[in-house]
Amino acid sequence: MKPSEIRDAGLAARGQQKIDWVQPRMRVLNVIRERFRKEQPFKGLKLGVCVHLEAKTAYLAIVMRDGGAQVAVSGSNPLSTQDDVAAGLAAEENIEVYSWHGASDDEMEGFYHSVLDAEPQILIDDGADLVKLLHTTRTDVAEGIWGGTEETTTGIVRLHALAKEGKLKFPMFAVNDAKMKHLFDNRYGTGQATWDGIMRNTNLTVAGSTVVVAGYGWCSRGIANYAKGLGANVIVTEIDPVKAIEAVMDGFRVMPMVEAAPHGDFFITSTGNTDVITQDAIKNMKDGAVLANSGHFDIEISKPDLDCLAKEKKTVRDNIDQYVMEDGRRINLLCEGRLVNIAGANGHPAEIMDMSFAVQAMSAEYVLKNKDNLKPGFYEVPEELDTEIAQYKLDALGVKIDELSEKQQQYLASWQ
Ligand SMILES: NC(=O)c1ccc[n+]([C@@H]2O[C@H](COP(=O)([O-])OP(=O)(O)OC[C@H]3O[C@@H](n4cnc5c(N)ncnc54)[C@H](O)[C@@H]3O)[C@@H](O)[C@H]2O)c1
Repeated sequence: MKPSEIRDAGLAARGQQKIDWVQPRMRVLNVIRERFRKEQPFKGLKLGVCVHLEAKTAYLAIVMRDGGAQVAVSGSNPLSTQDDVAAGLAAEENIEVYSWHGASDDEMEGFYHSVLDAEPQILIDDGADLVKLLHTTRTDVAEGIWGGTEETTTGIVRLHALAKEGKLKFPMFAVNDAKMKHLFDNRYGTGQATWDGIMRNTNLTVAGSTVVVAGYGWCSRGIANYAKGLGANVIVTEIDPVKAIEAVMDGFRVMPMVEAAPHGDFFITSTGNTDVITQDAIKNMKDGAVLANSGHFDIEISKPDLDCLAKEKKTVRDNIDQYVMEDGRRINLLCEGRLVNIAGANGHPAEIMDMSFAVQAMSAEYVLKNKDNLKPGFYEVPEELDTEIAQYKLDALGVKIDELSEKQQQYLASWQ
C-alpha cells in the first residue's frame, strides 16, 4: 500500500485519545474484535474503506486490521475527516490513511484512487464513491473485488441504479437497509447528532422556534422528533403521501417547502434528493434563518441559488456562511450544506455506530465466507446477522427478553 497521505502526523496522540474514548462504548464491535483476533478471517487480505473519517470509523478499521486485513482508508467527505483521528489511525500497523480535512474535489478523488491502488478484495463504501470509480475510471481494479458493503441510503440508491442496468460488477451488501443499521443510526443517530451540529455551531435557542424538516424518512423523522423534544414547533415537508400522513399522525404540520419558508427559524434537509430548498423558498425566508443539511451530498440546499440571490457572502462564525440578500435579509448556511452532524460535529454517538459498524464488520466477513457462491449484484444483509448483532447489543446492555415456548412456536406456525 502507498504511504499515508494525511495533514499532520504530529496530531496522532490527540487522535488516539478520541479513538480511546469511543472504544469501550462500542461493545458489540469489541466482541467481534476478540473473535476476529482469534480467528484471523481476513488474514492476507486487503480491505478498502471509504467512510467519514472520525473516531468510530477509525475503530472499525482497527477491528478489521485485528482480523488480519491490511486496511486502506479514506474519508468520504472533505469536511468530515478529522485530521487528528486520521493521524492516530495512520500510526497503527497495517493501516494506511488517505484523507485530510477540507480537501478539494480533486484531492478527494485522489484519495479514493489511493485506496483502490491498494487493490483491495473487499470494500466498505459510504455513498458508493469507490464503487462509482470501479465502474468508470478504475475498472482495472474491479476484477479483483470479491464484494463489498454500502453504509448509506444515497449509496444504496446509486447501487440500485447500477444493478438495474445490469452493470454492477461484484456483490454489494446493503448495510444501510439492515434493521440494526437504519432503525437506530438513521433515526436516533442522525436525530441527535444533527441537533448537536446545529446547536454547537449556532449557539441559538431551539425551544419555541419553528423548525422546518424536509422529508419524513428514517433520518428526517429522527430530526423532527428530536426537534419536538427540544421544544420546537415542527413543520414537515414531504413528496410521499404515505410519509406525509405519518408525519400528520405524529402531530406535525405538513405543507410544501415554499409555504413553510416564511415560518422557519431552522431548515433541515435529509432526503437524499437534490434541490429540496431552492430560490422559491429562500426568497420567502425570514432574516436570520439557519439552513442545515444532513443528507449525504451537499445538493439538497441549492448553493447556486443562494449565490445567485445574495449580494454578499461572508463567513460569520466557524462553519457558518451568511448570504446577505438584496433586501438585507441574512440567510445562514451551516457547513457549506454538507452533513451538519459530521462536518459540524462528531457524527453519531459511539453506541449507535457500534451497531452500524458491527453490521459492516459481519457483512464484510460474510462476503469473504461466501465469495464463491455470490454473483455480481445487490444483496440484503442476511437476517441472521441482524438478529445476532441485536443479541450482542442486548447482552452488552444487560437486557434480557422472553423466549418462545414450544407451545407458542407451534401456535405461531399454525393456520388453525
Ligand atoms: N447525516 C447522517 O449521518 C446520515 C445518516 C444516514 C443516512 N444519511 C443520508 O440521509 C439521506 C436520507 O436518508 P434516509 O435513510 O432518511 O432516507 P429515506 O428514504 O428513509 O427518507 C428520505 C425521505 O425524503 C423524502 N423526500 C424525497 N425528496 C423530497 C423532497 N424534495 N422534499 C421533501 N421530502 C423529500 C422521501 O419521500 C423520503 O420519505 C440520504 O442521503 C442518506 O444517505 C445521512
